[in-house]
Amino acid sequence: MKIGVVKEIKPDEYRVALTPAGARELVQRGHDVVVETGAGEGSAFADASYEAVGARLASVETVWAESELLLKVKEPIASEYQRLHEGLILFTYLHIAADEPLTRALLESGIAAVAYETVETDDRRLPLLAPMSEVAGRLAAQAGAYFLEKPLGGRGVLLAGVAGVAPGSVVVIGGGIVGYNAAVIALGLGAQVTILERSIDRMRHLEEILSGRVSLLMSSSLQIAASVEDADLVIGAVLIPGALAPKLVTREMISGMEDGAVVVDVAIDQGGCFETSHPTTHSDPVYVVDGVTHYCVANMPGGVPITATKALTNATLPYVEAIAGLGLREAVAADPELAKGVNVLGGKITYEAVAEAHGLDYTPLDDALALSA
Ligand SMILES: NC(=O)c1ccc[n+]([C@@H]2O[C@H](COP(=O)([O-])OP(=O)(O)OC[C@H]3O[C@@H](n4cnc5c(N)ncnc54)[C@H](O)[C@@H]3O)[C@@H](O)[C@H]2O)c1
Repeated sequence: MKIGVVKEIKPDEYRVALTPAGARELVQRGHDVVVETGAGEGSAFADASYEAVGARLASVETVWAESELLLKVKEPIASEYQRLHEGLILFTYLHIAADEPLTRALLESGIAAVAYETVETDDRRLPLLAPMSEVAGRLAAQAGAYFLEKPLGGRGVLLAGVAGVAPGSVVVIGGGIVGYNAAVIALGLGAQVTILERSIDRMRHLEEILSGRVSLLMSSSLQIAASVEDADLVIGAVLIPGALAPKLVTREMISGMEDGAVVVDVAIDQGGCFETSHPTTHSDPVYVVDGVTHYCVANMPGGVPITATKALTNATLPYVEAIAGLGLREAVAADPELAKGVNVLGGKITYEAVAEAHGLDYTPLDDALALSA
């Protein structure tokens, strides 16, 4: 198959959808890999490293026009819509339930659009979102520790403490993938860590794997208020699938925190779980409300593209290999996880929640495949 990789053009996006190591795997399987010149630069992959493994370099026009399978990280932006062409399979993060113009562009172009974020296992895990949650969780603790430094507007607390001086306290709300990874790094920094969770099963699991090194508390608004009040750093990491994040920390709780305390709202991409949160960017990551520093970067993994690119492509490559090796039709027949990723095919919406979000017709994937046969 002809597999294309283009440079990401969304602001603040430095990841690339395929590493040279991934390109080599595909070339070895007999595929023709064509990479836009400069596509890997933001993640420190030089053009030469793609050429060295047998990929070709080409202009953006050539990559879009020649590809049968196009790999991206972020959804196409308006200036890319005219490049969508019939016969193309697009594999990327799409998030089209919140993007009507893109949904229409995908439908009109007749392409097959497979979304990383809706690939889903039988036990409801999202294998292509998980690596980015790992990155964001780990970065959350690191960013929080940094903004606690006095010259950066923080309280002036070292999370580790020193001999004879107590460590800082970190409260993590939500003990899923983000929360667990944030807690692990906060523990590694020497902080005293509390995780507030709502699922007892998840807390049992966390207790097993963290073996008594964190306090695990049932999340309730009373407990959140009590825990947040004394915290140096609060990390918001809740998720209610398919819904906006609940506003668990109120403005009143924020104003009760110490001056210079820090909150990191990782859930900001779902609206945020602090009442005082609004999205920020890597170039201007923090703002202050009632003396409390807020870090609410909506695309945290974009700040560490070398790590994030490798983590993402480690997870996507097996699916890329399946689509390229079998063709989309056979690949989705063989793998129901991948089938859940197909959002649009041949002018039909094949993912129910997307159709619902836009009030458009939903066509089950099998029917859409039959129609496009
Ligand atoms: N900002 C970024 O760059 C970025 C990157 C990756 C993920 N995220 C976001 O981080 C959030 C967490 O993602 P995840 O992968 O860890 O999800 P997850 O499903 O693994 O974990 C969410 C956890 O929140 C818990 N929860 C739900 N309601 C709660 C409540 N009221 N109190 C306490 N816990 C509660 C759930 O039980 C679950 O364990 C999501 O909103 C995700 O979109 C943001």
